[in-house]
Amino acid sequence: MTILTELHQDHVNLNKLLLMLQQQVDKLRKGEQPSFSLMGDVVEYIASYADGFHHPREDKLYEALAQRSHGLDEKLQACREEHDALKIASTHLSDAIDGVLHDAVMPMAEFADLLEEFVTLQVRHLNYEEGELFPLIAAQVSDEELAVLSQQLPMPSDPLFSEKRAHEYNDLYRELIEELNRS
Ligand SMILES: [Fe+2]
Ligand SMILES: [Fe+2]
Repeated sequence: MTILTELHQDHVNLNKLLLMLQQQVDKLRKGEQPSFSLMGDVVEYIASYADGFHHPREDKLYEALAQRSHGLDEKLQACREEHDALKIASTHLSDAIDGVLHDAVMPMAEFADLLEEFVTLQVRHLNYEEGELFPLIAAQVSDEELAVLSQQLPMPSDPLFSEKRAHEYNDLYRELIEELNRS
């Protein structure tokens, strides 16, 4: 599996969870009460996986792909900046969910706006990488070079990047999907 395929699979998984969060936004807009603890788990998973695992892996790849062409550099830089913005949005939303779970008063319309903004930012970022950046990488970087980069990317000394950690995330993802399907 090349690194682009692996990142693409992450996008597919993240997108499913984001779709489910968007359904919670729709519920809130209709005045229905979603499960805040389940929503909290989903947001925590997305934040932890995207900010702690997926984006740092992409950042390493993007670093390795720098200075090939002006067009590619611009898109790589845009994505790196979005990673920073997404991290801030995740923290903001997690804090708000924590507040609601601990009985803080927050108008539901305001909460729905915050949640929708988070979903929109995340989805826009996924679509940008899938629709703009990855096709450019595929056009400018050979499969052979990507294969070499895939080998170089894992950093076993960092527990965040270990294979065990990746499996744990996979298990957690499956559990969340099952729980969401039941709710
Ligand atoms: Fe990204
Ligand atoms: Fe990504």
